[in-house]
Amino acid sequence: MSNQNECHHFLRWALPCLGLRREGYKKVRRQVCRRIQNRIGELRLPGFAAYRDYLEDHPDEWNTLDTFTRITISRFYRDYQSWQVLGDALLPGLAQRAQEQQRALRCWSAGCASGEEAYSLALVWRHRVMEKVPMQKIEIIATDVDEHMLQRADDGCYPGGSIKDVPRPLFKKSFRKIEGGYCLDQGIRAMVSFLQQDIRYTMPEGPFDIIFCKNLVGMYFMREKAVELFRKITGRLTEGGILLTGNHEPFPIEDLPHMTPYDRGLNMYIKRA
Ligand SMILES: C[S@@+](CC[C@H](N)C(=O)[O-])C[C@H]1O[C@@H](n2cnc3c(N)ncnc32)[C@H](O)[C@@H]1O
Repeated sequence: MSNQNECHHFLRWALPCLGLRREGYKKVRRQVCRRIQNRIGELRLPGFAAYRDYLEDHPDEWNTLDTFTRITISRFYRDYQSWQVLGDALLPGLAQRAQEQQRALRCWSAGCASGEEAYSLALVWRHRVMEKVPMQKIEIIATDVDEHMLQRADDGCYPGGSIKDVPRPLFKKSFRKIEGGYCLDQGIRAMVSFLQQDIRYTMPEGPFDIIFCKNLVGMYFMREKAVELFRKITGRLTEGGILLTGNHEPFPIEDLPHMTPYDRGLNMYIKRA
């Protein structure tokens, strides 16, 4: 068996043991295989079959393997159209409601990678929405399990490819060029609070008006776990609050009767009153 085939065979066994969904890894298997291959080298094992035996003899190794399964791809304004809808209608509407209730608008980016999603929200708020509700406060919390990703979020500097979809006028106002990339304005960075949390065990206190849970729970967790987590996540939404999921991930709406599509094409769901 080739190395790639050995790895695929190994993943078919190991991913479900970690509660992870095999289909979610189709396009990113190579990346995961490379990390496991390096680990096999580090442990001086002859191959994937030996690593499987090693896992069976060393239960703590499952935690290490778990870290190799994290896919951290993200970019600013991912799923561009949804940012149009957020800026034009959703955010002003939810902000108006929060203003009437005399409270901050609260948002959570779950599995935030290096902050691209949370900072996109801060940009849309600052440059498109704030003038419509000038006295309104916004709180943006972003969580991720990966310490390294959160450090990058804190640095706020990105390669060109990550920010290519930021609309030109916002880009000019909010980024400065450095060697090898662009750094985000301190004022925008200060709008987001980052927390290291494993969504399987910890979530920030709600309620939230908007939750982004894109390309994480639906994509990578097996259905039963995804349902359990989406129940907890949507339990943290206000009535009329919005959940955004990723474009290519299943969302178990039939197990979440309190949620209804807001815009199915854009993977936005609203919590019923
Ligand atoms: C593919 S990225 C998605 C980033 C962003 N939400 C987006 O759609 O562009 C998935 C992120 O989830 C994080 N992640 C993976 N497992 C996690 C867990 N159990 N708890 C919290 N975050 C996790 C990864 O570290 C990674 O940064």
